[in-house]
Amino acid sequence: MRDYIEGLPKVELHVHIEGTLEPELMFRLAERNGITLPYADVSQVKAAYEFDDLQSFLDLYYQGACVLLEEQDFYDLTWAYLQRCQADNVRHTEIFFDPQTHTERGVGFEKVIRGIARACLDGERQLGVTSELILCFLRHLSEESAIDTLAAAMPWREHFIGVGLDSAEAGNPPEKFNRVFAEAREVGLHLVAHAGEEGPADYIRQALDELYVERIDHGVRCTEDPALVARLRDSGVPLTVCPLSNVKLRVFDTIEQHNLPRLLHEGLNITINSDDPAYFGGYMNANFLAVAEAFDLDRATIAGFSRNAIDAAFISDERRRALHAAVDEVDT
Ligand code: ADE
Ligand code: ZN
Repeated sequence: MRDYIEGLPKVELHVHIEGTLEPELMFRLAERNGITLPYADVSQVKAAYEFDDLQSFLDLYYQGACVLLEEQDFYDLTWAYLQRCQADNVRHTEIFFDPQTHTERGVGFEKVIRGIARACLDGERQLGVTSELILCFLRHLSEESAIDTLAAAMPWREHFIGVGLDSAEAGNPPEKFNRVFAEAREVGLHLVAHAGEEGPADYIRQALDELYVERIDHGVRCTEDPALVARLRDSGVPLTVCPLSNVKLRVFDTIEQHNLPRLLHEGLNITINSDDPAYFGGYMNANFLAVAEAFDLDRATIAGFSRNAIDAAFISDERRRALHAAVDEVDT
């Protein structure tokens, strides 16, 4: 199965670029920027990656992001991730970035977007990995801050295709961001949101009914509401499920307890993704392999995750056809 997964062309739809910051690069950037980390070495960083919940992870994730100061830092971060994509046979990726994590520290928006976008261009030219960017609003901050962020991003509109919503979910419902999502919709941006990761099933409903999102990021708690499950099945809204993340953040205690089999049994449109691979112990192949082994999935189911992601991606019909053809070559 490992060989099959490695050979399968894949599409990633849920990855935070700040969550791809490997400890080794964190140290290199800290040194380059004269920043002192609260860890002696890489092994201490890795030892700190034991999380009780989403918030305990976010605390370290935002701390780690403090080493990112210059355009080149964002380039190096993104380039390293795109190389991992190539190694894992990920042919296309839609990357989240969190501008407020950086602008709140005084880093200019242009440094963030320029560095990431330049790496994406090089990734396409030199690695054959295509990518798009999705700007995420931090939901623990105010809607005014999100509105200001969207306004600051508009001069760079050609560099991103959509907006999303991430960070601390519980207590920060989608409806808090109705206005900024309406603004994004008006200018033709794609819309996604994290919902039903730690928050209740009702947040998934809100994301659909009030934000008009096209995909739900995570969404695993939908199973708490049978009517919502039926709606997701009938509408075919894609869920970007992140198995290793869900275990690391204790949404499920073990991979065997993950509700993926239930989601599949319900006929939902499931994709598999890595979320924050540097923090959660694995990129795309590791996530695919974890669920394949835990649930003894067959090849058709595994290839189905790739096909679902290709169909759910915000790409041209031409690119979609090419990606499907690549999957057809290994899944005949
Ligand atoms: N930001 C980075 N990873 C996240 C996750 N899994 N949930 C919410 N916000 C995040
Ligand atoms: Zn996420």
